[in-house]
Amino acid sequence: MKHAFQPVDIDFAEFNPFLKIGKDWFLITAGDEEKVNTMTAGWGSAGVMWGKNCAFIVVRESRYTKEFLDKCDTFSIGFFEKNQHSALKYLGQVSGRDEDKIANARMSVEFYNGTPYIDESYIVCICKKLSATKLTPDQFIDGDIEKNWYANGDFHTMYIGEITCLMAR
Ligand SMILES: Cc1cc2nc3c(=O)[nH]c(=O)nc-3n(C[C@H](O)[C@H](O)[C@H](O)COP(=O)(O)O)c2cc1C
Repeated sequence: MKHAFQPVDIDFAEFNPFLKIGKDWFLITAGDEEKVNTMTAGWGSAGVMWGKNCAFIVVRESRYTKEFLDKCDTFSIGFFEKNQHSALKYLGQVSGRDEDKIANARMSVEFYNGTPYIDESYIVCICKKLSATKLTPDQFIDGDIEKNWYANGDFHTMYIGEITCLMAR
């Protein structure tokens, strides 16, 4: 059954990014009424850019979700209760190219003004894409970054999205 989400005033949001992003993880969801994809992310941040409240996400070239992010003007990020951790692990190991992973994870998609989100989230940020920047070796100052994280050349693109709606249930 569809959950009832309420808008939350972002000024009152309490959020530890190291825990919520780095340890609990989140889902990045993008697409349209025809096709939606989602993937687990454990890197990223939330903050302020160009005078707007923003989410910063990084997505490697190989991810199917990247095709949806590049095609769409908006995306969502969703945070989950601890009991969904194994589902998030699955959504971070399998590609939507290969299976209907949203259904297999027993999750469902809803839309907020045309932007898809995963209804089993307990907090959702609806984001409007502001920028997409490919992270390339010439930008890395720490010499270990390329060797440790990009030996296969599968670089990240950083998307900065304005959080246009924060909602919780
Ligand atoms: C805990 C965890 C965190 C992850 N964080 C990221 C991330 O921040 N960026 C990224 O590109 N991939 C990340 N991944 C990998 C993708 O979620 C994974 O490759 C996924 O299968 C991509 O699905 P897709 O091909 O359907 O887009 C993470 C995976 C896990 C399990």
